[in-house]
Amino acid sequence: MSRLRIFSENDPSTPRLSTSDHAEMAVELGRIGVAFEQWQASAPVAPGDAPEKIMEAYRADIDRLVAERGFKTVDVVSIAPDNPQREAMRTKFLDEHFHKEDEVRFFVAGSGLFTLHVDGEVYEVKCEQGDLIAVPDSTRHWFDMGPEPSFVAIRFFTEPDGWVGHFTGTDIAQRFPRFEKGQAG
Ligand SMILES: [Fe+2]
Repeated sequence: MSRLRIFSENDPSTPRLSTSDHAEMAVELGRIGVAFEQWQASAPVAPGDAPEKIMEAYRADIDRLVAERGFKTVDVVSIAPDNPQREAMRTKFLDEHFHKEDEVRFFVAGSGLFTLHVDGEVYEVKCEQGDLIAVPDSTRHWFDMGPEPSFVAIRFFTEPDGWVGHFTGTDIAQRFPRFEKGQAG
């Protein structure tokens, strides 16, 4: 189940809000400029499907978003729990960073934990199958796929270089909850 928890940046133990209601999540995230939507596949998809098949199943939504936001590149990432690179892949996104373009991800399958750091508050967003999250450029954030990652995501880029992260050098991500074993799925 998708979930949003909002914490003070100084108190990682007690969220001031916790909700799994998609509409409420969209309203709260909308206040900080983050788009949160649910998409339905037009055809069944499963982890391991070819990227072309996944893109085709969500073609109408992808085309709409590309037209609205001017994305140049769309790709698919698919990571299974036995991926030999999983530790390095997890570590790559674990510390606070930002981008000079929006970070836009659609979860075709599986789940992951996006955490955003905005105006003294920390927004922890557990994304599940069907969730689209669009984080504005310059927003400080981190992403945890967990120790046994299992997800398929469509990624949208406006810059030709793909993923470029600017790390802030803070330790805030280490003070907030990680995506633990057993949460995935
Ligand atoms: Fe990022």
